[in-house]
Amino acid sequence: MKALVYHGPGKKAWEEKPKPEIKDPTDAIVKIFKTTICGTDLHILKGDVPAVTDGRIIGHEGVGIIEEVGKGVTSFKKGDHVLISCITSCGKCEYCKKQMYSQCENGGWILGHLIDGTQAEYVRIPHADNSLYPIPKGADEEALVMLSDILPTGLECGVLNGKVKPGDTIAIVGAGPIGLAALLTAQFFTPSEIIMIDLDDNRLKVARTFGATQAINSEKENPVEKIMSLTKGKGVDVAIEAVGLPATFELCQKIVGIGGHIPNIGVHGKSVDLFLDKLWSRNITITTRLVDTVTTPMLLKTVQSGKIDPKKLITHRFKLDQIMDAYDTFENAGKKKTLKVIMTNENE
Ligand SMILES: NC(=O)c1ccc[n+]([C@@H]2O[C@H](COP(=O)([O-])OP(=O)(O)OC[C@H]3O[C@@H](n4cnc5c(N)ncnc54)[C@H](O)[C@@H]3O)[C@@H](O)[C@H]2O)c1
Ligand SMILES: [Zn+2]
Ligand SMILES: [Zn+2]
Repeated sequence: MKALVYHGPGKKAWEEKPKPEIKDPTDAIVKIFKTTICGTDLHILKGDVPAVTDGRIIGHEGVGIIEEVGKGVTSFKKGDHVLISCITSCGKCEYCKKQMYSQCENGGWILGHLIDGTQAEYVRIPHADNSLYPIPKGADEEALVMLSDILPTGLECGVLNGKVKPGDTIAIVGAGPIGLAALLTAQFFTPSEIIMIDLDDNRLKVARTFGATQAINSEKENPVEKIMSLTKGKGVDVAIEAVGLPATFELCQKIVGIGGHIPNIGVHGKSVDLFLDKLWSRNITITTRLVDTVTTPMLLKTVQSGKIDPKKLITHRFKLDQIMDAYDTFENAGKKKTLKVIMTNENE
């Protein structure tokens, strides 16, 4: 089969690899139908994630069709259409029992990281009963690719950890796919104001069409002054960090109001200053989370019922064997106005 293979920092190739086989009875082999590229894949390709070694097939999102299941898989059979979760979970360990699948002792984020991933014609999914979700008949499978990672991430790490509630004023720093997923899912809880902050005018424009009430380009305007003027000097109830840089986490600390929350989503590669001298007395909470994907079944229902439309995040489409062009489009997101790209496997 063909797959996108990492060969050390800056090197990737679309090349021939052996088709995966069942290793454990709880495995399933899934034929990829549609997959996408995540910002995290770009981190991997830069060499920021050293656990990913030369020869690894990357990718942790997608939908597909079951090709084969191990003897221990009870919920799926050949031919079933499935959504692949970016998080693999055994369902049995201490952390899975707490619904903290991201920390699963036998899984967690391993796809396209510690084991071969989804940017390929076939993928092996361990603990298939817990790590795959059945796709309802008639569902728009392309839209569901957004449920492998970005929608649960925006919702769980941003909106739920930030305890967004009706009437809240919230700010989302970063209008990439993750920040926009937080914007879409925050609206389940009817906040009164959603202020988006980014450096990219196109993404801010998109954010407005997705329901943002204010958009701030932090290169052109001072975001702290603007937010303080919008909130009568009080700051926001929830400041969601969806970039992963010291500057953006510091901005969240400057704009959070009394009793507010700072839910961090961004993957940070550097340590960040904590302004405890200013914040100690202001009753705020800071949370961190690796997406657990516990909200995936709920999100499937909201997409099915039309309450949210994640398809809006898809800007470009390719065939799976045009994946190098898809990477180019995703890497040059500013110039090409890219949010999410979809690659479809058209091979029989
Ligand atoms: N916690 C988790 O489980 C989890 C899961 C998936 C992704 N992530 C992380 O979430 C973050 C966002 O992901 P994404 O795919 O949307 O990334 P992205 O790179 O597509 O988007 C980041 C956005 O931040 C903006 N930005 C950059 N610097 C900025 C600044 N100084 N001020 C304001 N905006 C700035 C960029 O213009 C861009 O639109 C990444 O760090 C990613 O690794 C975390
Ligand atoms: Zn991802
Ligand atoms: Zn587990």
